[in-house]
Amino acid sequence: MTDEQTSRPARDASTHDYWEHAAATHGTKDTDRYYRLDDVVAGGTLMTELEEQAVAVATGADSADPLGRVAGLDVLHLQSHIGVDGVVMARAGARVTCADYSATALARAQELAARVGVAIETVETDARALPASLHGRFDLVYATIGAICWIDDIDLWMRQVSLALRPGGRLVMVELHPVYQMFDELSPDIVCDFPYGGGEPLTYTGSGSYADPTSTEESTTTSYAHSVAEVVTGGLRAGLVVEVLEEHLSIAFNPRGDDVLTLGDDGRHRFLLGRGTRPGEPPQPLPVAFSFVARKA
Ligand SMILES: C[S@@+](CC[C@H](N)C(=O)[O-])C[C@H]1O[C@@H](n2cnc3c(N)ncnc32)[C@H](O)[C@@H]1O
Repeated sequence: MTDEQTSRPARDASTHDYWEHAAATHGTKDTDRYYRLDDVVAGGTLMTELEEQAVAVATGADSADPLGRVAGLDVLHLQSHIGVDGVVMARAGARVTCADYSATALARAQELAARVGVAIETVETDARALPASLHGRFDLVYATIGAICWIDDIDLWMRQVSLALRPGGRLVMVELHPVYQMFDELSPDIVCDFPYGGGEPLTYTGSGSYADPTSTEESTTTSYAHSVAEVVTGGLRAGLVVEVLEEHLSIAFNPRGDDVLTLGDDGRHRFLLGRGTRPGEPPQPLPVAFSFVARKA
């Protein structure tokens, strides 16, 4: 066994506790602004169009039917949280494994799978040290919005992705853009407190979550900044071949539910800072998300 397979990177207990609590509560309250699980059980999806299109590109599906070619594929939903997108892909015929370090999240994923009437496998693991049982097994590793900011070492994470993929398999990543991640709020002051990259940590104490802003449970979490260049370079170093790298200037939902994004008349959220050339003129939008699809050589 290599060191990578045997070593267990240190886990931040406080951040893990936060995820255990979030997993127990997400999708259980009327105030939840994101996890509408009844909609999923009724046949809907919570995948954004960015996630669907990344899956479509990775599988060669028509963009009008983005999950049309996942049937029969082995998919690892990495840092799956309560497994919603994994369950949706299982319903479309994929053989899905949800992996997360939160046992509660995985139990919730199994609960959702049972409600939807599909089977999924769940594996409790640190994403920085995937067990050998997951190596070389997957056509797709799917890791999206809010995954890599919890990872201190992006190169190590990318090596795990590469280990999990079969030759020719693909990573499907859709993430919040690191420029957007830098900003915490725009008023009354512009708060820009998160580094752009370098794996730099930010420790935050507060209450509420992106899905459940009403939660009063206080927690302390540490997240890490990775620039787009570091993500892509991590993939290249891990033996992945870049197929798609796209930066997005708008998104269909407000992922953090804060005032950093502005909702436009077209129903899309943009990161608008300052103004355009003349007073009163809207500024050009900054990037809010990126998609990265890469193939294991
Ligand atoms: C923001 S959630 C992902 C949300 C997901 N994209 C969704 O749509 O539901 C982040 C997940 O990463 C998991 N996580 C954080 N650090 C991890 C680690 N080192 N290993 C495995 N899972 C981790 C958390 O338990 C949590 O479920």
